[in-house]
Amino acid sequence: MAKKIIITIDGWSSCGKSTLAKQLAKELGYVYVDSGAMYRAITLYFLRNHVDWTDKKEVHNALESINLEFVFNPQRQASEIFLNGENVEFLIRDLVIAEKVSDVAAIREVRAFAVAQQQKMGAKKGIVMDGRDIGTVVFPKAELKIFMNADNAVRVERRFRELYEKNPNVTIEEVKNNLEMRDYIDSHREVSPLRKADDALELDNTNLTHEQQLHKALDWVNSRLHKA
Ligand code: CDP
Repeated sequence: MAKKIIITIDGWSSCGKSTLAKQLAKELGYVYVDSGAMYRAITLYFLRNHVDWTDKKEVHNALESINLEFVFNPQRQASEIFLNGENVEFLIRDLVIAEKVSDVAAIREVRAFAVAQQQKMGAKKGIVMDGRDIGTVVFPKAELKIFMNADNAVRVERRFRELYEKNPNVTIEEVKNNLEMRDYIDSHREVSPLRKADDALELDNTNLTHEQQLHKALDWVNSRLHKA
């Protein structure tokens, strides 16, 4: 049987991690897991249920009532996240969630809850997972770790275009402020801050096409597959 590896993709908000992760998963026949969707779905639950996330007990009880599942949608050829049986894949992309998700993701117990599930998903390898702490905390022994970045203005523009398609009321200022705020909180939090793992390879895709970034990453995958 062909050897399978774990590929982690970490990096700043909206730098194209999920696009590359999906490309790689498709090319290699691997499972793609969007770890950010888990933090977004937890945030949605907290907001809907008015959970005071500064209160440890409330967070603990809320997490006990949360069940997260990824289900593959053959029509979209993509996994979608279900929160307690409800497909929330589209709801969680809203800016209302993005405004709060980094605060929720900074909570120790929330991270322990998500990380335990992420580690189970990678038990059989053959997985590409993107996020903030995947190469540093979730899979510190992953065979290939990628740390992505792109110019700030390019990241803002890309995310603005995505959000504008769904909601023409969104402004570029709002998107810019949200990315700056999340990047700050994500990289300064006490638990599992965003940082490049020492053994991660850097990929700046500011001036790369989708094909070029895939090509580069596949070269890295092949070198890992031959090494192991
Ligand atoms: O798509 P984008 O890069 O903007 O964000 P995302 O992957 O959907 O993640 C949303 C938020 O979840 C991030 O800003 C982090 O606060 C949090 N997150 C995290 O803390 N750890 C992860 N492994 C993934 C996401």
